[in-house]
Amino acid sequence: MSVDSMLKAPAIAAGPLTLVHTADEAAGWWRSAVIYQVYPRSFRDLNGDGIGDLAGITAELPQLARLDVDAVWLSPFYRSPQKDAGYDVSDYCDVDPLFGTLADFDAMMAQAARLNLRVIVDLVPNHCSDQHAAFQAALGAPAGSPERDMFIFRDGRGPFGEEPPNNWESHFGGPAWTRISEPDGQPGQWYLHLFDTSQPDFNWDNQAVHDEFERVLRFWLDRGVAGFRVDVAHALVKAPGLPEWGGRADGNSCDGYPGHDAPMFGQPALHDIYRAWRRILAEYGPDRILCAEANVDPLPRLADWVRPDEMHQAFNFPYLHAGLDVHRLRGVITDSLVALDAVGAPSTWVLSNHDVVRHATRFGYDGPAPRDGDGIGTFDRQPDSVLGRKRAAAASMFMLGLPGGAYLYQGEELGLPDGIDIPDSQRQDPTFARTGGERLGRDGCRVPLPWRAAEPHTGFGSGQDPWLPQPASFAELARDVQTEQPTSHLNLYRRMLAMRRQLDLGRGSLAWLENWCSDTSLAYVNGTTLVVMNVGPDPVDLPPGHVLLRSSPESAEQYSASPETYDGGHQLGSGETVWLNLPVG
Ligand code: BGC
Repeated sequence: MSVDSMLKAPAIAAGPLTLVHTADEAAGWWRSAVIYQVYPRSFRDLNGDGIGDLAGITAELPQLARLDVDAVWLSPFYRSPQKDAGYDVSDYCDVDPLFGTLADFDAMMAQAARLNLRVIVDLVPNHCSDQHAAFQAALGAPAGSPERDMFIFRDGRGPFGEEPPNNWESHFGGPAWTRISEPDGQPGQWYLHLFDTSQPDFNWDNQAVHDEFERVLRFWLDRGVAGFRVDVAHALVKAPGLPEWGGRADGNSCDGYPGHDAPMFGQPALHDIYRAWRRILAEYGPDRILCAEANVDPLPRLADWVRPDEMHQAFNFPYLHAGLDVHRLRGVITDSLVALDAVGAPSTWVLSNHDVVRHATRFGYDGPAPRDGDGIGTFDRQPDSVLGRKRAAAASMFMLGLPGGAYLYQGEELGLPDGIDIPDSQRQDPTFARTGGERLGRDGCRVPLPWRAAEPHTGFGSGQDPWLPQPASFAELARDVQTEQPTSHLNLYRRMLAMRRQLDLGRGSLAWLENWCSDTSLAYVNGTTLVVMNVGPDPVDLPPGHVLLRSSPESAEQYSASPETYDGGHQLGSGETVWLNLPVG
């Protein structure tokens, strides 16, 4: 029997409902939180070097408070050679001079506290930078030494050890192994790196690695962070013996799922690591959280990551990958809520991040984006940017009506598209170089933000050129321009987020409204709010109810009208979402 058919609920005036999830009463701020991802390199550059910094974040935090988010998650700002935009960490307990100092971090934390915003930081435990002191020590020490045992070193195959120890591939392309020169200058052992050559994987079979990361957790918890987003949380432990595996190392959010049997992902021993971390967080009170970036399939397996004594949240990448396919969306939402309810965890929802093509660009295509979404270039088929932004508003509004937590990626509140016109010489994602340009990589979604249209670099920073060029369209999408336009994407986000809080949608329930679910539309009821999205080419009739908010308002008046008195149009256009207040009684 399907989950849906087990959960039939009574009809309301608009027709039968299929109940999937009841309102959430457990304690925990994160269970319904909207968390905004700040990508520090591209947020705001206050020192004029063309790269964002912590002082820039501090300066603009009031804008995020005004957006009404609960917390920010910061991608890495730690000491790093920046070979993978900071996900190659050389010192986990210091700020890279590019971004500022620990004092700047503390100033940012103080500002966040004044604004009632929590701050989550990124933890990168699968690998570090090859410039990390521990890896340098390993290179200088002999095979079999405790220093080498912090990482995954193996002898090569072949008569002279000239072949990599197994057939694993790097997620960024090419082999997952690099051979070193031993201290005596002879070709020597190989080390494993699931990502770039400059990112050696730690050996989580070694207790010293556990001890080191527990120290790192405490360092940032002592500085007041609200928790950690754990990078490639499914990859830390590898299967004993490192068996051959023919699949692609699709280990992060850029792609689909890794296979169930992948020896580098989802190993059972991972769970004890996160249990130990949860105990450490609990020493700091009930409000510090762990969120897994764990790309695991099927969804019930993801629930294993958020059992009561493990992480608090996990990213829902199946939701991101469902796009605007209403059947996939319905399946993912139902399966997520049912699987996570079974372990008492909230779901999260996400549409964009620093690893995928922005959803305003993805939805500018009918069907999949070119190159499977692995970056878009000037020679590719181009998206329809107006359509993309319209559908992005609809998709965000559909997502923000769902119960659970939601993650937003900086700039999506402005409806920003990907940067497409990036010269090859400026592309910095290691994927681009490691695949000889075949995969363009993730630079397009990482272009610096536009703050003020009339200022140099649209207000990102007044000094050097931004580290990636901004598209011309960024001027009209700048935050100050959109602030003044009542029906802008930004003002829609502000209203959605304020209303979501007011209606407590994050804590709510979910039932599908069957008569408005079709091959091209989806409708659900959350408490007294009805959410309908139409992705088909034709308008659909709306169920009865007062319009609270539409994703594509025809006029500014619609927004200023009182939700109680304004009775909306009777149809919902193509590529639009609406929130309705159900008629009472
Ligand atoms: C991060 C990526 C990064 C990779 C390696 C991911 O999951 O989100 O940006 O390249 O981990 O650290």
